[in-house]
Amino acid sequence: MLHELDIINPATEDTVATVPTTSPAEVDAAVLRAAAAQETWAALPPGDRARVLRRFAEVVDAHIGPLAQLELLEAGHPLGNATWEAGNVRDLLHYAAGGVERLTGSQIPVAGGIDVTFQEPLGVVAVIAPWNFPMPIAAWGTAPALAAGNAVLLKPAETTPLTALRLAQYALEAGLPEGLFQVLPGEGPVTGAALVDHPGVAKVVFTGSTATGRQIAARCAAQTKRLTLELGGKSPNIVFADADIEAAAAAAPGSFLDNTGQDCCARSRILVQRTVYDRFMELLEPAVKAFTAGDPADPATDMGPLISAAQRERVRSYVPEGAPVAFRGEAPEGKGFWYPATVLEGRPDDRSAVEEIFGPVAVVLPFDDEADAVRIANATEYGLSGSLWTRDVGRALRVSRAVAAGNLSVNSHASVRYSTPFGGFGQSGLGRELGPGALAAFTETKNVFISTEESK
Ligand code: NAI
Ligand code: MG
Repeated sequence: MLHELDIINPATEDTVATVPTTSPAEVDAAVLRAAAAQETWAALPPGDRARVLRRFAEVVDAHIGPLAQLELLEAGHPLGNATWEAGNVRDLLHYAAGGVERLTGSQIPVAGGIDVTFQEPLGVVAVIAPWNFPMPIAAWGTAPALAAGNAVLLKPAETTPLTALRLAQYALEAGLPEGLFQVLPGEGPVTGAALVDHPGVAKVVFTGSTATGRQIAARCAAQTKRLTLELGGKSPNIVFADADIEAAAAAAPGSFLDNTGQDCCARSRILVQRTVYDRFMELLEPAVKAFTAGDPADPATDMGPLISAAQRERVRSYVPEGAPVAFRGEAPEGKGFWYPATVLEGRPDDRSAVEEIFGPVAVVLPFDDEADAVRIANATEYGLSGSLWTRDVGRALRVSRAVAAGNLSVNSHASVRYSTPFGGFGQSGLGRELGPGALAAFTETKNVFISTEESK
């Protein structure tokens, strides 16, 4: 195992920090500390737990600037995006804090007594986060898990541990008990695997590749361990001829270029009805070219670099010599893991139209009618998100119901909110995060029957 992680600024290739990794023995010790802290935490009155989480949110809010700077440095996210991401952590903490006193059970009519349910915390939860949205995705698991009375051990991705470590500092400042929320940087197959296999960890929340997610699921199965998987996607953006084509073309670039396409919800398959195909492409080209790649610190920048040299190689492999490139944007030359926005005109069974690319590349596919659109949209093992553009309300609902994916948007690409459920169909995942059910996912339902029979 590596004893240190070199943290590289992907826009400059400079090493910005080195971070010690967590050994399996240190994972053991962390689980013990977390288990002890969890008992204290779960025993606090709900209102007090909520207050501590609100204070955590306020400390994060007071440090949005420094958190955004760290995200910019280690992940290359443009300042505007990074600022939004830090604000999202604050919002998630507030939303979760509001749930602590509303984590109600039910009272069920039965014969001979009363029956009530309790939502009991699980204990110690491991959150294994990816590098694409290091702060928000870490908080998606952490905030509701803490709110429901659990301890959290967060393993950030190898490339992006800095914001997570900073959040752990803020948690202590806010008054969370020592040991309740610990950040354990390290390699997936070492530190991550030690968490997954640890019998003291009750649930694993994983976001990342489908291949790694399947491995983790198998290891959790061996211990009947609770598990949430948030995996890859190949989401369609379906543009019908009756849509506002100008609006659809204007919105399309952000839907696959935001975060340089390193987004599980990226609308990387653009399905366009054949009768408006040429018009749509005419409008799409200038919109894509106007999506500026460059210095993440420049407020005019829309798109930063890819996370690593390895990720750039992976993305490049989808656009080999002779690939059907319709047009491309520009990207800086020289240092940094830059890759230009790229639009391909392909066929539904091309590798670029089937596999998750996780870079600023989309493939445009023509379709004939509604049934054809739904068939192409569903011709994937994934099912995370999707968008459709139409002015026909009936069609909007029919197609939303027909596309096999967890998160659909009509005349919009917005599909992730802390207040609405999020997760995938098929190979895109297992379970749901966020939304009204977020806290309950970190509990066991306990049923208690109390006899009201008179004792004889
Ligand atoms: P990955 O799935 O290997 O890594 C994600 C997280 O899992 C990291 O924290 C990593 O350290 C950890 N991990 C890796 N192996 C592990 C193991 N055996 N046990 C426990 N934890 C482990 O993803 P990677 O290699 O960084 O990216 C590869 C591809 O995965 C990307 O190109 C993209 O297609 C996809 N991906 C999808 C994400 C999403 O949001 N759904 C996020 C990140 C990657
Ligand atoms: Mg990997």
